[in-house]
Amino acid sequence: MKYDVIVIGGGPGGYLAAERSGGKGLKTLLIEKTNIGGVCLNEGCIPSKTFLYSAKIYENIKQGNKYGVYTDNVKYDQKIVLKRKNKVVKRLVMGVKSKLKNNNVDVIEANGKISGNKKEGYLVEAITNGDKKVFTCNYLIIATGSIPIVPPIEGLKEGLKSGYVMTNKEILDLDYIPKSITIIGGGVIGLEMASYFSTVGCKVVVVEMLDNVGGSLDSEISENLLKSYKKKGIEFKLGSKVTKLNTNSIIYENKNEIFELESDKVLLSIGRKPNIEDLGLENLNIEVEKNYIKTDNRLNTNIPRVYAIGDVNGKSMLAHTAYREAEVCINNISGKKDLVRYENIPSVIYGNPEIAVVGLTENEAIKKGIEYKKVTLPMMYSGRYIAENEERDGIAKLIVDKKYNKLIGVHMMGSYVSEMIYGAGLMLEMELRTEDIKEIVFPHPTVSEILHEAIHEF
Ligand code: FAD
Ligand code: NAI
Repeated sequence: MKYDVIVIGGGPGGYLAAERSGGKGLKTLLIEKTNIGGVCLNEGCIPSKTFLYSAKIYENIKQGNKYGVYTDNVKYDQKIVLKRKNKVVKRLVMGVKSKLKNNNVDVIEANGKISGNKKEGYLVEAITNGDKKVFTCNYLIIATGSIPIVPPIEGLKEGLKSGYVMTNKEILDLDYIPKSITIIGGGVIGLEMASYFSTVGCKVVVVEMLDNVGGSLDSEISENLLKSYKKKGIEFKLGSKVTKLNTNSIIYENKNEIFELESDKVLLSIGRKPNIEDLGLENLNIEVEKNYIKTDNRLNTNIPRVYAIGDVNGKSMLAHTAYREAEVCINNISGKKDLVRYENIPSVIYGNPEIAVVGLTENEAIKKGIEYKKVTLPMMYSGRYIAENEERDGIAKLIVDKKYNKLIGVHMMGSYVSEMIYGAGLMLEMELRTEDIKEIVFPHPTVSEILHEAIHEF
């Protein structure tokens, strides 16, 4: 059968592209091999945020006496948390499926493989249990996402097989809280899961190769986050490289010394890689760079009418980036020229406290040779923050370009920052100067007023 558009992969990138494509009247097929919703809905963003919300309620209740609320016998039941997570996921997946249906998208559960190019269009095979159907299309969108990196460390494969070692998929299906967990990798997944498990009574140790956590975070934010997490009781082994896994322990090396660390479970979260194995990229000679499908900011690959969106192009491995790329891709296919401006995409780490950032870090500004000014304020400058936080240690850091007085970076740690960051993103996107931002009226009392306070310091 011939389609205008075939999308391979039904995660945030793929399902939104299919939905928008169908909505524009293009005959569209979506091929998904496991679960519609992809990593984000089934084993990533949504499950982790559902877990973290339960932990936040638990933490708030346990600290209730500081706010005049006394509660006895507070209990945490991971079985119910898991059940609720599954319900939330099911509801969202059903929502996506019905939107696909309403937009006349054909959906097929199969492994998609690109098999060539003929006069009638690109050829895509949909393979299920040995049964193969071949479809053709004018436009092909690759949205196959990413999978966890599993490095060749002795004992790791065996650990994954036995269940001692988990990836994001297994940990978000745990129906009990282990007594102790070692997290390999202090990046985004590692930090969110460290926040979760430490809050609900598990002893957490994070083993991170670098001397800092949170990868590309601004160093001031990263240092403050580390302090705050240590206060929660999370232990960090920085500058430490895991060299071996035993049946109930890991071996790591730090400054040429060897250590052993026992725990009930291990989480492997050292990054993700594009899902391109056996996809048939070679059949169209689609160019890859460091295993990611190479695209420009309009999502074009090197092959005309073939696009790659979401994690598989490695530009910014976030669900909201995948959404925007899906929209841009369909706009370009349907004749409206569009592109993604990657530099102003916000990102959030949803532990407690939350981190939310957009734009350049101080280090990036230095590397780019930009002359800048910066202001860092404690969140305690916000009345609402004080009213609601007995001992929170939030901060907000703003970076302004000296030449034009333009806001170029916002980095925040504290409550509600995940909901505030889009406003900061908008300021960057609109290239607002400090004088423009000073004229914006913020509702009082809100934590967002911290931006107003900080901008008046310039
Ligand atoms: P995916 O969601 O990976 O979906 C790809 C789909 O393609 C999968 O369903 C897969 O089965 C399918 N597929 C692959 N190959 C084939 C094939 N050959 N044929 C058919 N189907 C195929 N991002 C955020 O923005 N916010 C968050 O809070 C957040 N939390 C996260 C938490 C965790 C634990 C993890 C792991 C990730 C998180 N992310 C978050 C990242 C986010 O999940 C990804 O950026 C997003 O899912 C990428 O979407 P995608 O469409 O590119 O791919
Ligand atoms: P990551 O890239 O964020 O962090 C990996 C960390 O592991 C890095 O700090 C790295 O230095 C460390 N590391 C690498 N090899 C190591 C080793 N051998 N031993 C010890 N440490 C090692 O990757 P992560 O956490 O797996 O997340 C993958 C992606 O998922 C993220 O890049 C992000 O795009 C997405 N994600 C987004 C979330 C959000 O937006 N809130 C939440 C969770 C994931």
